[in-house]
Amino acid sequence: MKVAHLSDLHMGRTISAEKLESLREDLISQAPHLLIVSGDITDRGSTSQFRRAKAFLESVGAPFITVPGNREVSFGAVWEWLFPPLSMRRYSSYFGAKDRVLFVSDEHKVVLFGLNSVHALPSWPGSIPRATRYWFREKSAGFQGYFKALFLHHPVLPVIRSSSFWAHTLSDAGEMLNICSQNRVRLIMQGHKHRSAVMEVHIPERNARVVVSSCGAPLMPFWDSIYHIVEIRSQTVVVRPREFLGGTYVQTGCYEFPDEFNSAHCSSDKQER
Ligand SMILES: [Fe+2]
Repeated sequence: MKVAHLSDLHMGRTISAEKLESLREDLISQAPHLLIVSGDITDRGSTSQFRRAKAFLESVGAPFITVPGNREVSFGAVWEWLFPPLSMRRYSSYFGAKDRVLFVSDEHKVVLFGLNSVHALPSWPGSIPRATRYWFREKSAGFQGYFKALFLHHPVLPVIRSSSFWAHTLSDAGEMLNICSQNRVRLIMQGHKHRSAVMEVHIPERNARVVVSSCGAPLMPFWDSIYHIVEIRSQTVVVRPREFLGGTYVQTGCYEFPDEFNSAHCSSDKQER
């Protein structure tokens, strides 16, 4: 199964038409089975931005699943920050369930869990409500024989090149990693930092390894204009970052994580630059 991991589109911020069109064309040419967007789909959570973002994703022609980011809470509506149940009403009206997403492909034997990590105040660290965490633990214990992946906005793992006040991980990062390693969730797709990174965590006491795809912000200037193509083959994961360079998106790396212990660059690493 081939998925495109996108994040932090910040639709509504000044984005060059060339870049937007190039991303659309690149996604179409990559022909993923599914688009996964790990939050901050809009820049300010306005209706027009949600409409624009959804129209863009639909124009790619592949199914898509999303989770919200902190930018989906309207900056102009203080009450949405003060009362979490009011938050992201517009998000839900455009993208459906905001707290828990369960996507199962029986054809590819893949199950994807999407969680809302947005905490109303303060919004930046992010957290997972206890009930949602229990839901994830219970659901991910099932699906034997399926490849399991989690996607959410806030980082479970800190991202290289983002050491700042805003660099801290999700406040429940340890517990989420604990559940992933116990229930053989092989892949985490996260956003928020606008930096592209591909990592693998090895937890020897559980003989567990978790691959982490941390997406950039493919449309934004001054950050990593990168999204990831993720191929899932049985328990092997291949991540290929694609970066906006010279007016088009090109593959700038290829990282293969086989079921065996060692991860390595792909033997057929086809860097385009
Ligand atoms: Fe963002």
